Amino acid sequence: MGRLKLCVPISGGGSNLQALIDACADPTYPAEIVLVISNKPDAGGLARAEKSGIPILALNHKDYNSRAEFDQVMTYAMEEAGVELVCLAGFLRLLSEEFVNHWHNRMINIHPSLLPSFKGLHVQKAAIDYGAKFSGCTVHYVRFEMDTGPIIIQAAVPIHPDDTADTLAARILIEEHKIYPEAVRLVAEGKVRLDGERADIINNRPASASIINPPLA
Ligand code: GRF
Repeated sequence: MGRLKLCVPISGGGSNLQALIDACADPTYPAEIVLVISNKPDAGGLARAEKSGIPILALNHKDYNSRAEFDQVMTYAMEEAGVELVCLAGFLRLLSEEFVNHWHNRMINIHPSLLPSFKGLHVQKAAIDYGAKFSGCTVHYVRFEMDTGPIIIQAAVPIHPDDTADTLAARILIEEHKIYPEAVRLVAEGKVRLDGERADIINNRPASASIINPPLA
């Protein structure tokens, strides 16, 4: 069986894209990136893709009359490339309902919080301001309502007393780079079973011990 063909839409630096590129460099990994799309022509992640010889498409959304038109161009390019799974990686643009429906159960996203808590932007600051003791990251299937959809994998990190949004974001990002390639692997290997709006992992092993924050005295 061939490797699952991925498209990775980005808007920025693309460190998650890099994590996926690195995973795909292993010939035994069950997926490959066939297209990287950016809605920002100067997104740093585009250079990462080019360096690895991955086809890129840099679109400036300001060149399009409507969100629907922009999204149609993306879908057209992805279908031309034979894309089977869309992996949003810091793609900072709302998607039209048509686009989300078209890629239903064929599009995943990584978000830097433990969903369903802290949706939207600036979520590291929101978690600190709320006084949450843990945050983390989530890979989930994409639904039209922002940052919702069946959860595939999550990683939790403690929030430290002296954290700033930046230090917390950096701690979360380390985990993002681990769980995004793992989520893609689970999907590619057919290990994610959707039961309505819930994703179950086939033959899932129990995770290791709990962590408590603040630590017990
Ligand atoms: C990550 O924090 C991701 O969770 C969020 O956008 C950020 C993208 O970072 N969706 P990068 O461009 O992958 O470094």
